[in-house]
Amino acid sequence: NAPVIAIDGPTASGKGSVAARIAAELGWHYLDSGAIYRILALAGLQRGFALDDEEALAALAPALDVKFDGETIRLDGADVSLDVRRETTGNAASKIAVLPAVRAALMARLRAFRQSPGLVGDGRDMGSVVFPDAPLKIFLTASAEARADRRYKQLIEKGLPASLDSLVQELRERDARDAMRAVAPLKPCEDAILLDTTLISIAEAVAFVLRHARQ
Ligand code: CDP
Repeated sequence: NAPVIAIDGPTASGKGSVAARIAAELGWHYLDSGAIYRILALAGLQRGFALDDEEALAALAPALDVKFDGETIRLDGADVSLDVRRETTGNAASKIAVLPAVRAALMARLRAFRQSPGLVGDGRDMGSVVFPDAPLKIFLTASAEARADRRYKQLIEKGLPASLDSLVQELRERDARDAMRAVAPLKPCEDAILLDTTLISIAEAVAFVLRHARQ
């Protein structure tokens, strides 16, 4: 089994940027598991499914035609890279992520990313559920204000709609939904190393994780 670095944490805690940089640094594969939930939400919405239609969404999961090509994500052949990053898609993803059958249906897909020489996976349950035997587990946190601020900058940079007030509100709702759900609720696992990124840069967080990875 190839080694895994699991990086989990709440919305906009910096896990995506940190995980992608660590993967590049080590020459390992990178799994943005949130993107998979976002893509499934998008595909469901395109088909007119309700976001609580557990059966339909779970059936769609193994059949999804997704291709990752660098920064580009294709769904059924169409470039959905920008749509995937929209805040509306993130909110939809957070709603379908509470459905146990959906999480179960995505499991094989997520685990298939574990390939030699190694995988850096980011999400909510990389260390707790998907790769429980990962030798290194990191849990990133940051204050709600710092996270809303980061997400705002990311969205504006991509030319996507964003309002700081509604971001703080939505982020709190998403935190609550992630933490309260019955399956894979968001919390650090016992063997995870906690890192608060409120006051440190992405580069510092990357250096911290790499120090642990190389130990
Ligand atoms: O960082 P942000 O919450 O915007 O989004 P994300 O990491 O792209 O994930 C989108 C949503 O999918 C999250 O709000 C989670 O509810 C869900 N998710 C999950 O349940 N498990 C994962 N491993 C990854 C994401």
